[in-house]
Amino acid sequence: MCGIVGYIGDQEAAGFLLDGLEKLEYRGYDSAGIAVFNGTNIRVEKCVGRLEELKQKIAHDMPGGAMGIGHTRWATHGRPSDRNSHPHADESGNFVVVHNGIIENYLRLKEELIDKGHHFASETDTEVVAHLMAEHYNGDFEATVKKVLSIISGSYSLVFMCAHEPDKLICTKQDNPLVIGLGEGENFIASDIPAIINHTRKTYILSDGELAIVKKDSVWVQNRDGVPISKKVFEVHWDAEAAEKGGFDHFMIKEINEQPRAVRDTMTGRVAKDETGIVFEELNWTADEMSAINKIFIVACGTAYHAGVVGKYYLEQLARIPVEVDIASEFRYRSPLVDENTLAIVISQSGETSDTLAALKEAKRLGARTLAVTNVVGSSIAREADQVVYTYAGPEIAVASTKAYTTQLVTMLMLAIYVGELRGALPAERAQELCRGLHRLPEQIEDMLSDMDSVKTFAQKYGYSEDVFFIGRSLDYAVALEGSLKLKEISYIHAEAYAAGELKHGTLALITEGVPVIALATQYDVYEKTLSNIKEVKARDAVVIGLALTGDESIAKYVDHVIFIPATDKYLAPILAVVPLQLLAYYAATTRGCDVDKPRNLAKSVTVE
Ligand code: F6R
Repeated sequence: MCGIVGYIGDQEAAGFLLDGLEKLEYRGYDSAGIAVFNGTNIRVEKCVGRLEELKQKIAHDMPGGAMGIGHTRWATHGRPSDRNSHPHADESGNFVVVHNGIIENYLRLKEELIDKGHHFASETDTEVVAHLMAEHYNGDFEATVKKVLSIISGSYSLVFMCAHEPDKLICTKQDNPLVIGLGEGENFIASDIPAIINHTRKTYILSDGELAIVKKDSVWVQNRDGVPISKKVFEVHWDAEAAEKGGFDHFMIKEINEQPRAVRDTMTGRVAKDETGIVFEELNWTADEMSAINKIFIVACGTAYHAGVVGKYYLEQLARIPVEVDIASEFRYRSPLVDENTLAIVISQSGETSDTLAALKEAKRLGARTLAVTNVVGSSIAREADQVVYTYAGPEIAVASTKAYTTQLVTMLMLAIYVGELRGALPAERAQELCRGLHRLPEQIEDMLSDMDSVKTFAQKYGYSEDVFFIGRSLDYAVALEGSLKLKEISYIHAEAYAAGELKHGTLALITEGVPVIALATQYDVYEKTLSNIKEVKARDAVVIGLALTGDESIAKYVDHVIFIPATDKYLAPILAVVPLQLLAYYAATTRGCDVDKPRNLAKSVTVE
């Protein structure tokens, strides 16, 4: 995710802004910029690339002034470039903003503004906010911000500057973090605490819908209707390293906890607000185009491949198209039967995985229509594919993929609903039901994350096992694959995922007394069959941890322990079920003292074949 900083006081703002952005570098970014009020107007300096490049650009002509905002960008709308970098200004340069998140209705707003004569300099959703400020400015900065907030929708943290009222910064947030650092005769704004802890440890943590008027010697917080809110000062006791991890011990657990936001951002603008269906403006496929597709290949590596396995169930069952899922390094060399009626979907968090990129090129060479599902705007895979759907997980720093996987699942489900409706394979009522379920996901993940002590206990109890088995049928099997990979890659415990019905065809002998078996039983259409498989492993004295939907009153009779996830539709269950499995892996690894964020022999982006 992008980083935000802001300063108002008596010091040179640029110094704090550059220093604060440097403290946020660990989060990953592709461009940086600052805006400073110099007594007459607001000067914006920004460029694509590292912060160091921005520093060099302005080294001999530092913007002077005691109020400013800064930003490191992780591209979402529009590829990394100078003009897409933040801060963004309106044409007069009097209104300048920095923004994290996604403005859901920006395309419509942009068209309306263009009709009114506005000219845009970037492809971003954020620039629309600066133009809206100019369009609606009525001599009152605060009232105009409120007006603009009533027009935009989406997720955001935003900081506004106005050259007409240079005694204040105004900031607000919705589903994205923002903190205000309280100083003496100066105040600070940041998306993350590391940016400010060298200056103050007294903060206000803003909540959704709150709006703060930040002056050099006062901070006034209110809701959007102007009702004052009395904020408690939150004293930060973390050291710099803990602050980077948001107070968590590792990036992996931080990222697991970011999943509600990541999932919400990935759905923003795509799952219709009235839950009537899915919109992919970036695809704009037609019914005729989709009817012509007679086969889909999903190609990826590792965790992304596992998301593809789930995607196969989604696309086959909801859109009724035959789907093959391939490991990218296999696909390239097996002469796949691809033609112009084939859609090849490649999935990649980084967008740089060499095997996936090569498979994509091969699919293209064979004549397939290609689509990339990736988390990195402007990455090699995004550039190579005919079309791209981005996941909005934000930068993933821990090597083990977590929030990228859940956002990939959400994307694959949205795609299946979208294609299913276009092909007339999915009744509208069923699509609506799934959209309602998608809307509930972020809150359900939040609820689960707040009550996962039992998972930690199991991980501590069984964390020294030599082998662990994951079993499940149908979509539960697909999730078992990812649960098993997570456990082995970070805790180094040998783990196997098995289609539950397949155990007796060879592997059952490995299930002996005390071997932990994680049995996923969230799929109601194969539930009874899964119970039979659970009985098979229980009969061999395995210790079984069942993973089931809340309200399942039978499971406890067959297993030793149960982890419940919220009751949901069978297609949504994988997105919830993986969360306790990620946590199980995380706590098993910490129990064994493993280097969770940097597991051995594993790189975040594998750019060799
Ligand atoms: C597992 C993991 C790897 C990646 C794989 C593909 O936690 O991170 O298995 O999923 O290397 O990477 P991307 O998605 O970047 O193509």
